[in-house]
Amino acid sequence: GFEVYLAKAGQSFDVPADMSIAEVLLENGIGIELSCEQGICGTCLTRVVDGIPDHQDMFLSEEEHAQNDQMTLCVSRCKGNRLVLDI
Ligand code: FES
Repeated sequence: GFEVYLAKAGQSFDVPADMSIAEVLLENGIGIELSCEQGICGTCLTRVVDGIPDHQDMFLSEEEHAQNDQMTLCVSRCKGNRLVLDI
């Protein structure tokens, strides 16, 4: 697993290997928008403040993935121990 810190909300959550970031946030009452839950539609696209996402979506381009400044919360994960999101 890894940690997600929400910069605006000032809250941090552990994301276990068997749950998505989106599932963890919704379970904890954080109001994010979800639609396809398959990394296709971009509804859950969120700004990344710090950390390196492990991009698993098909919505962003390779160039956008390489910038590591936004990510989908439904399928993408974290390459290190911690992500800081603009939520
Ligand atoms: Fe569609 Fe995440 S909900 S890309």
